[in-house]
Amino acid sequence: MTIRLTINGQIRTYDGDPRDSLLDALRRTYRLTGAKDVCREGFCGACTVHIDGQAVPSCLRPMGLLEGADVTTIEGISSPEGFSPVQAAFVEHDVVQCGMCFPGMVMSMTDFLKRNPSPSRAEVKTAMAGNLCRCTGYEKIVDAVMSVQADERANR
Ligand code: FES
Ligand code: FES
Repeated sequence: MTIRLTINGQIRTYDGDPRDSLLDALRRTYRLTGAKDVCREGFCGACTVHIDGQAVPSCLRPMGLLEGADVTTIEGISSPEGFSPVQAAFVEHDVVQCGMCFPGMVMSMTDFLKRNPSPSRAEVKTAMAGNLCRCTGYEKIVDAVMSVQADERANR
């Protein structure tokens, strides 16, 4: 079974087992290792990507269900001009320690801010519930996310 999908704007085909997870296909077949392989059970959020514009854990998505899907990974979220606003805020606020949670957090928070551009701090924390970080204590990450929407408000 050949599956055709778009990954970071490029049409790709997948000829492996349709039960293979998107996470494995990304990392092993397409060599896109930004989505992290941690729990493989949908708990940690480290493997989060966008499928058809929505943040989802790629470890739970079998390739067989992705015919025609539009996938964006952390590798596809920046532009030739540089980091995406969420990436830039994470760097600016120095949120990264080991970095395992970073790509999934960026993908989740990018989707969240698209749907809720002016969230409260409590809403950011709730939206972050599916992304575990064992290093930072979360407060700096929340600061970074809040700064994105503050900057965007200032630019309106
Ligand atoms: S590796 Fe997918 S949610 Fe943890
Ligand atoms: S920085 Fe280490 S898990 Fe978040």
